[in-house]
Amino acid sequence: MDKSTVIEKLNEAIRHEWTGVAQYAQAGFVVGGLWREVYSTMFIGSADESFVHAKLVGDKISAMGGIPSVERNQIQQSTCVKELLDMGLAFESKAVEIYTEAIGMAEELGDRALVVFLEDILKEEQDGVDHLTQIIREHDQAEGNQAASATG
Ligand SMILES: [Fe+2]
Repeated sequence: MDKSTVIEKLNEAIRHEWTGVAQYAQAGFVVGGLWREVYSTMFIGSADESFVHAKLVGDKISAMGGIPSVERNQIQQSTCVKELLDMGLAFESKAVEIYTEAIGMAEELGDRALVVFLEDILKEEQDGVDHLTQIIREHDQAEGNQAASATG
């Protein structure tokens, strides 16, 4: 494992984080209805977290002698709350995958400090998966209850 391969993987991570900045911010802008009170702040907070991660990874790439990417991936868009939540969960799950792969590479490189650095971010990405999984479960139940009371 050479350093440039690890830098490539870190650039995949920063591209994902830039995607999160735009995707989550847009979700925060467009989420409507009663759920706006709950989810707008949450989505904007997730955009902020992606930016924090992008800053961390960008500085690390630079410190390792690479050039941090300014590119991002395709943005997933919707105005449906359920779809926005599902897209968020898919985004966080992908982040877990990328950082897990990066950690494996850092281990192969024998860079213990980089492993620890990436583990801190991985933990936050997994927290995102857990949080959204619980929210989606509760959201589905609340929507189900509304539908039940509307028909009953
Ligand atoms: Fe992130």
